Amino acid sequence: MSQRTSTVAVVGATGAVGEEMIQLLAERQFPVRKLLPLASARSLGRTVSFGGEELPVEILGRDSFAGVDLALFSAGAAVSREYAPLAVEAGAVVVDNSSAWRYEPEVPLVIPEVNPGKVAEHRGIIANPNCSTIQLLVVLAPLHRRAGIRRMVVDTYQAASGAGRRGMDELAEASIQLLSGKVPAAPKVHPRRLAFNCIPQVDRFLEDGSTREEWKMVAETAKILDDPTVAVSATCVRVPVFSGHSEAVSLELATPLSPEEAREILKQAPGVVVLDDPTHGVYPTTIEAAGNDPCFVGRIRRDPTVPQGLKLWIVADNVRKGAALNAVQIAELLPRL
Ligand code: A2P
Repeated sequence: MSQRTSTVAVVGATGAVGEEMIQLLAERQFPVRKLLPLASARSLGRTVSFGGEELPVEILGRDSFAGVDLALFSAGAAVSREYAPLAVEAGAVVVDNSSAWRYEPEVPLVIPEVNPGKVAEHRGIIANPNCSTIQLLVVLAPLHRRAGIRRMVVDTYQAASGAGRRGMDELAEASIQLLSGKVPAAPKVHPRRLAFNCIPQVDRFLEDGSTREEWKMVAETAKILDDPTVAVSATCVRVPVFSGHSEAVSLELATPLSPEEAREILKQAPGVVVLDDPTHGVYPTTIEAAGNDPCFVGRIRRDPTVPQGLKLWIVADNVRKGAALNAVQIAELLPRL
């Protein structure tokens, strides 16, 4: 890596993911010459901390990207659709955390531990996968390479932070109200009250009765593994947790793989930490994952109900590895801009 430094814009700098991106750029000593925090007019007058300085948040506009080398986007799909092409036109490389560009054939969809080589194929925009897909495939790709996954059934337990800062605030406020014996306000961000509840709806419903979040896991798994033969059946559930997604996964493999062999493969896998000692009560939960980089896996066991079946429990910090960290890791793979 050369010593060149970059001008880096963060679009959505005041959001849950944008703030984490800025923190990770500092933490990982990404060679930033100048940081440009961008958000909406709502954030006028706000500042963000970076490198010991308070930087004023600027309002995103069509001319925001002059002189920008790298633009990290996390302000929703509509903003990315409109502004990412303008950033590319101005000469920046875009790493986009929204779903706006993920399914375009010419846009690489990258998890650095799984398909880092795809970064080289970019034409200006690189897409960051959905949070649930990232943690799933960091763990499953090494097993797929060894034993071939024919089918997976995935049930997710997704944190409120996946719906951004407002999603977390709504959970906190309703929890406080309920614990104080009061009636919480009607939900605006989540489709139902999330406090003390589980909601089997993340994103909108599609015609076939699945949700778009579930469809994302299907489409993104095929694209990232570059293997449309892997069948994915997903149910995505929002749970009253602030930080960290959990996933219960059942696999049907093409060739036999024992839980012991799976554990050995995963102990060597980049970005994975195995926490799996059931006799001592060792398995991951969101408390272990929150604020940490790896994807944690435990409860690895046979599924005796299908031939060559394996079950696992996967947990990761959805704002970090599921979004901000994965985006910064993609940027680290780029030749210095
Ligand atoms: P703002 O705080 O000014 O609304 P989260 O996902 O945590 O809700 O964060 C979303 C981020 O995207 C925030 O930084 C938010 O800025 C930003 N954002 C949302 N809409 C726009 C927009 N139209 N233009 C620029 N930034 C936007």
